[in-house]
Amino acid sequence: MLLSIRGLDKSFGGTPALSDVALDLRAGEVHALMGENGAGKSTLIRVLAGVSPADRMDARLDGAPLVLGSPADAARAGFRFVHQELNIVPTLSVAENIFLGRSLPRRLGAAVDWRRLNRMAGDALGRFGLSHIDPRQKAGRLGTGDRMLMRLASMLVSGDTEPRLFVMDEPTAALTHAESERLFAVIRDLRARGAAILYVSHRLDEVMALADRVTVLRDGRRVLTAAMAETGRAGIIRAMTGRDVTEAHPRRAAPARAGTVCRLEDVSAGRLSGLSFELGTGEILGVAGLENAGQSDLLHLLLGDGGRISGRAEVADAALPRSPSQAWGRGVAFVPRERRREGLMLGRSIVANTVLPHLGRLSVLGLARKRLETDESRRLAQALRLRHRTLAQPVRELSGGNQQKVVLARATLDAPKLLLLDEPTRGVDVGAREDIYATIRSLAAQGTGILLASTDLPELIGLSDRILILRDGRQVGLVATQGLDPEGLLSLIYGEARGAHE
Ligand SMILES: Nc1ncnc2c1ncn2[C@@H]1O[C@H](COP(=O)(O)OP(=O)(O)OP(=O)(O)O)[C@@H](O)[C@H]1O
Ligand SMILES: [Mg+2]
Repeated sequence: MLLSIRGLDKSFGGTPALSDVALDLRAGEVHALMGENGAGKSTLIRVLAGVSPADRMDARLDGAPLVLGSPADAARAGFRFVHQELNIVPTLSVAENIFLGRSLPRRLGAAVDWRRLNRMAGDALGRFGLSHIDPRQKAGRLGTGDRMLMRLASMLVSGDTEPRLFVMDEPTAALTHAESERLFAVIRDLRARGAAILYVSHRLDEVMALADRVTVLRDGRRVLTAAMAETGRAGIIRAMTGRDVTEAHPRRAAPARAGTVCRLEDVSAGRLSGLSFELGTGEILGVAGLENAGQSDLLHLLLGDGGRISGRAEVADAALPRSPSQAWGRGVAFVPRERRREGLMLGRSIVANTVLPHLGRLSVLGLARKRLETDESRRLAQALRLRHRTLAQPVRELSGGNQQKVVLARATLDAPKLLLLDEPTRGVDVGAREDIYATIRSLAAQGTGILLASTDLPELIGLSDRILILRDGRQVGLVATQGLDPEGLLSLIYGEARGAHE
């Protein structure tokens, strides 16, 4: 056994996050770590990384006692990490970020050997096929997917100790299908060379295809460790949730259209062009495309954040909003793609984060308002099964998936006229996914028009009435979902450009 953990306890302010957890990792295996949002996966990983040491734990490396009291201990043991929430230094170059916390290659004397540094960084990026990232450019200029790939590449650069365990906390949440495939090839290669891989993901398909064994946590306790071949998908879900989850998308009746929420006629703005569509009340319009085909730009445009446009655009019975705050005031709500960068005030409470853009509307004075805020937050927290201690708790303390639920709660607090969703179920567990789908459907039933950008094709098809297809910022299709399957949608997304992208 490479690493063996027994009796791991960890609590925060008296509330246990992990209780008596055991974990065994073998050399040469991919071990999936699964569990609902807030089950304790990232906490366990931070313990292994020495970032947030355990209250009590017996750890052994190759049978010898191991202390994990600091990141240096973990590095010495040969553990490498990509954490769920990415820490990058935007003002440093990609190469410097890749070597962050590692000793830099130096020339005789002591000057940093920049040439060698950039070349080694370039090689690591090359393993993910990332020829488009220049190691010398500032990391802050990279998009979300590229940031994740940069962190992954960083795991691979040879350091002072031979790496023996690679730990990845939801690495594919921000990756495209093709990027994920490349990551899987790298993971299989690491496994073949005898490394252990501990892998966290909410995507069951990829876990089933990749992992040799699985450990499931529920409420901070280990409830299952088994060989993947002996555990079905349903078995994993049951271990995670304690219930059967359908994973189905019941067909909705076509919405009765009472009006139009948004209308675009031949609109161009920035890299977007050729946008012509109408979104009716109660309609769910999916937005599909390859990574960065303009999905987020379209949502930002309707939020009043897209700069100058040509063509005609109407949102919520008026001209295009001039700013996001004007948009929110008019009943346009938004769930951004990057919750930590554009979505949340991490130091503020759940209540504050939920009601923030609604303050104009909730402008009842003093105590009455406080009560209203708390009541509304509580109602949503229940509907979305938010795992939290108190509503006054800072959002920073919530698990990743639960932070996502706060962003959703905020957007759905007051049934909006238009709801803009950018990857709303990213990092969300199977059970919570169903809760979010139910929330989306019930808003549509109340007349909210919804624009849903998602790279999860079954989700997109299952929820949407119609799907708008973007390619390089250009609208290239608008199709009904009736009778559409993921393969069919994928070929529409690639269109004739398919060969060029593979
Ligand atoms: N610094 C902290 N202070 C207080 N509570 C915390 C802290 N970090 C984590 N927790 C709590 O510990 C529990 C486990 O959180 P953790 O982040 O490990 O969940 P997770 O399994 O990674 O979930 P997700 O799938 O959403 O990422 C949660 O209830 C969370 O609120
Ligand atoms: Mg987590």
